[in-house]
Amino acid sequence: MSLFDRIVVASIPMIPKFVVGKVAAPYVAGETLDDGLRTARELNSKGIMATMDVLGEFVHEKDKAEESVKQYLALISGIARDKLDANISVKLTALGLDIDPQYVRQNVRRIMAAAAEHEMFVRIDMEDSPRTDATVDIYREMRKEFRCGLVVQAYLKRTAEDARKLCAEGPSNFRLCKGIYVEPEAIAYKAKQEIRDNFMRVLDQMFGDGAYVGIATHDEYLTKAAEELIKKRKLSRDKYEFQMLLGVKPDLRDSLVKRGHRLRVYVPFGESWYGYCTRRLKENPAIAGYVAKAMIGLN
Ligand code: FDA
Repeated sequence: MSLFDRIVVASIPMIPKFVVGKVAAPYVAGETLDDGLRTARELNSKGIMATMDVLGEFVHEKDKAEESVKQYLALISGIARDKLDANISVKLTALGLDIDPQYVRQNVRRIMAAAAEHEMFVRIDMEDSPRTDATVDIYREMRKEFRCGLVVQAYLKRTAEDARKLCAEGPSNFRLCKGIYVEPEAIAYKAKQEIRDNFMRVLDQMFGDGAYVGIATHDEYLTKAAEELIKKRKLSRDKYEFQMLLGVKPDLRDSLVKRGHRLRVYVPFGESWYGYCTRRLKENPAIAGYVAKAMIGLN
């Protein structure tokens, strides 16, 4: 990322919300359930699966968490009604993790039970490190009853051990990603290559332990290394999938599908798009150009 891009990233909080919305539009399906379902249908028509997310996180009021649960219940019905090849991804802080540990469990259980009626899989997203223990514990509890999986982050030094323990306790289903939150050096790898190395180490360990893995990255170094590992381990297509975010690297996505891999796109939708979109913009290496064009009305 150029110095100018880094300056723009640092100034994101000062950029007007409408500009952020304009530049980040490709990253979200839209504000409504219909927008989300339409996007999943379009992806399905190209042979791509979806995992759908109702945008929202870090809620501190029960009425907001309740609203999230209701939107997920409507989403589950919509996916089932439209017979989409899609599952759902949930963020525990949107469902009340920061409000009360029992309350969030009730909400997760309501969503998991509704999904189970349609044999639908639920992925639990991973948020920042103060919430890692609670998130792993909730996955541990829920997987006893429901078809669900956990996201783990290759930048966290604890991840290999978390995955090893979970695999030793029972069949495990992970999404492995690099991790998006800003974490202290004491607990997280910071250098790009260190994170990649840990990603591949953990991926190999997970496959060795018999886990199903969603390989979530747009980094061609990692997709190439993962393809080599899949070949070396002679893994069949039903043991893994690649995963990418809506609006990021569609060419890489299409080339993986062409080479015969299963691929799932993360489809977020909803009115609370700001936090998600600013995180995506920070990862876009060409952010400055896009923001500048949006500011002067060129896109
Ligand atoms: P990296 O950031 O190095 O990107 C590789 C290349 O992709 C870049 O060089 C650029 O070309 C392109 N690129 C990446 N982001 C872009 C963008 N926004 N716009 C344009 N180009 C871009 N994290 C987390 O902490 N918890 C979670 O639950 C999840 N869930 C999740 C689901 C899925 C399906 C994916 C793909 C990712 C996540 N993540 C996540 C986010 C993840 O941790 C990570 O931050 C991003 O995937 C970016 O890392 P990459 O591996 O893509 O590498």
